[in-house]
Amino acid sequence: MGQNIVNSTKANPECEIRPEDFVYNLRHVTEDAALAAYEWIGRGNKEEGDGAAVDAMRTALNKLPINGEIAIGEGEKDEAPMLYHGEKVGSKKTGTVYSIAVDPVEGTSYLAKGLTNAMAVIALAKKGEMFDPTPSFYMDKFAAQAEAKGLIDMSWPTEKKLTVLAKALNKPVRDLTVFVLEKPRHRKLVDEIYQAGAKVALYPAGDVAGAIMAALPNTGIDALMGTGGSPEGIISATAISAIGGVFNARIDPQLPSEKVAVEKAGLNTEHWYDVDELIGGEEAHFCATGITTGLLFDGVERCEHYDRLETLLISKSTKGRQVLTTYIPKNVKD
Ligand code: FBP
Repeated sequence: MGQNIVNSTKANPECEIRPEDFVYNLRHVTEDAALAAYEWIGRGNKEEGDGAAVDAMRTALNKLPINGEIAIGEGEKDEAPMLYHGEKVGSKKTGTVYSIAVDPVEGTSYLAKGLTNAMAVIALAKKGEMFDPTPSFYMDKFAAQAEAKGLIDMSWPTEKKLTVLAKALNKPVRDLTVFVLEKPRHRKLVDEIYQAGAKVALYPAGDVAGAIMAALPNTGIDALMGTGGSPEGIISATAISAIGGVFNARIDPQLPSEKVAVEKAGLNTEHWYDVDELIGGEEAHFCATGITTGLLFDGVERCEHYDRLETLLISKSTKGRQVLTTYIPKNVKD
């Protein structure tokens, strides 16, 4: 796969990809990961599916004419297959270094169970401009549309946050829907949201989609609240930095070993980082391809003569977002 990489860059691996073309090149990375993971939908095997997507993502990344470094891999938390922190990727060895956050399968449980909402995801920013939450595995998160920017203090109780958000979105609190991961740690948060009068969309996994939906208008989700993975937090921050929405996160260790490591590293667990602290600078690129059909786009469709994929592209450089449909003919070889 990866045969569709923009010809000009393929012909000269030393040329820089223009920032505005960047995100279009990235889609091959998530498309290849999604196609590899497709084989593992509904086979009850998270690890093999994740491993296939990791291998495909690594191969596609190494074809890209970028000087890249994996800043945030997934896998440490679950000891799953992964692209390693600090691993060099891309065909260029010089020029701008890009920090890369990857989640070859966001929603491995969805993939293994053959459920909706599994996707392959990647996010990039220039090195030094992507916050590194290592060694934390979990972050408490809040996401919403740009209308709420600067209006909500993260130290406020849930009810006050939602009252101010509702005002910013020009709707009653009772019409707000908050995306929350369905986890025992969120029982209190969910009760507080009900008490405030708002609705809760409880999903067992997949808070990258939840955060992006919260930051976009008319998705049926008005906010994301609660604790999820740190890699997913940085990936969400990259997308929302480009969309221009609200994203705040606080390091929130859940595992005993993680708590020790976070304390040892001197990470501040009180501070709520805003999106500009998590992703600084003018370049932020996000790309996600559906593996199974989800809230934001369709999954892989395997037809007789081609594979059909849908990919969401979000980039600060192109100032917008696209959902791209790719048809990959079956007879095309690398
Ligand atoms: P999968 O294990 O199904 O890939 O789950 C992904 C995810 O739900 C992320 O969206 C989320 O940030 C994180 O896991 C939450 O972690 P945990 O399930 O350990 O609470």
